[in-house]
Amino acid sequence: MSRRTLIAGNWKMNTTLDDARDLAWAVAEATEDVEVDVVVIPPACFLVPVAEALAGSHVTIGAQNLHAEDKGAFTGEVSGPMLASAGCAWVLCGHSERRHIFGETNELVGDKVAAAHRAGLTPILCVGETLDQRDDGVTEVVVKAQVETGLAKIDAGAVERTVIAYEPVWAIGTGRTATPEQAQAVHAFIRGLLRETYGDGVADAVRIQYGGSVKPDNATQLMSQEDVDGALVGGASLKAEDFAAIVRA
Ligand code: 13P
Repeated sequence: MSRRTLIAGNWKMNTTLDDARDLAWAVAEATEDVEVDVVVIPPACFLVPVAEALAGSHVTIGAQNLHAEDKGAFTGEVSGPMLASAGCAWVLCGHSERRHIFGETNELVGDKVAAAHRAGLTPILCVGETLDQRDDGVTEVVVKAQVETGLAKIDAGAVERTVIAYEPVWAIGTGRTATPEQAQAVHAFIRGLLRETYGDGVADAVRIQYGGSVKPDNATQLMSQEDVDGALVGGASLKAEDFAAIVRA
């Protein structure tokens, strides 16, 4: 079954306001004629100006994180309804940097996925093993727990409208990419999990992105794998021409 390719650029904690606007414009211009879904994920404080810069273009906007509650006394946090009203369509949940630097658990990530759906956002549930876990042979155990608990608080209809991003931690920002075969093996495993729990309709509809040192020169091979439906790009998304080259791959 064919799933529309989804390429998202996670800018992480980079850019100033002027950089963010310029990068957004450049991405929109450089990817104008492509038949894939293109998403940029700027820092939270630049969501509104980037949404304004991209108004009327084909590029949609995501956020890097959200709080699990919809509102309240949570100083410094940003909620799903805020993101939706700022022009976001997507939100990352459980990025490995949130899990490993900020201590987010599978349970909290599951609450965030549910919060995203409540706000009408499409969550991109990020999963992936560390190098030690891969070396210990527990990649599937780790990813299974991340996927199952990450989706535990939503129903099958919402699962179908969720994106999963497989980002092996050892490949993020290291220049060390998973081979296309390694990526495909974990993507197929994730789709198999979805098939067991939710059936063919959901399993065949959910898009599974690969992330971790995706660059213009490795994107084509990764994207050609059967269960790889797009990419979540970090470093290379900060250069419009590199990001556009990945979109074209
Ligand atoms: P890099 O592409 O810089 O490895 O980052 C991947 C990532 O974490 C995207 O969310």
